Amino acid sequence: MRILVINGPNLNLLGIREPAVYGQESYADLCAKITAYAREKDVGISFFQSNHEGALVDAIQSAYGSFDGIVINPGAYTHTSIALLDAVKAVGIPTVEVHISDVNAREAFRKTSFVRAACIGTIAGHGTDGYLEAIELLMRMGGAHA
Ligand code: DQA
Repeated sequence: MRILVINGPNLNLLGIREPAVYGQESYADLCAKITAYAREKDVGISFFQSNHEGALVDAIQSAYGSFDGIVINPGAYTHTSIALLDAVKAVGIPTVEVHISDVNAREAFRKTSFVRAACIGTIAGHGTDGYLEAIELLMRMGGAHA
């Protein structure tokens, strides 16, 4: 099984960015943690991060035919982007939405997620462990579109 982990805007600043909300781990730490977990589970893993909405759409599109699952933390585009929703729907790859923070316990505007409608699950508020839980969920779903 091959999984693409996509992170949106400002997630490259993990560790620097609001550590009280997002924790002390850097983006490199996050990727290392996911890589170690994926190796343990015998899952192939790739990473993509961008601050640009169109680049995230391109990454989702290019996953078609190459990946069996997507883990996506769209950052603030979660709350605004119909383009990301449409891209996930278009490729039909099982996708899990992840948020490090508990978006439902924060500002009201963070409760809205456009991409959620195209996802098989959402994990929020479990810190960076949420990415590992998302991989586990994709594995349990068996990479249905492999
Ligand atoms: C986030 C939550 C979003 O509201 C925010 O804009 C982010 C990160 C999270 O991981 O908790 O950039 O997706």
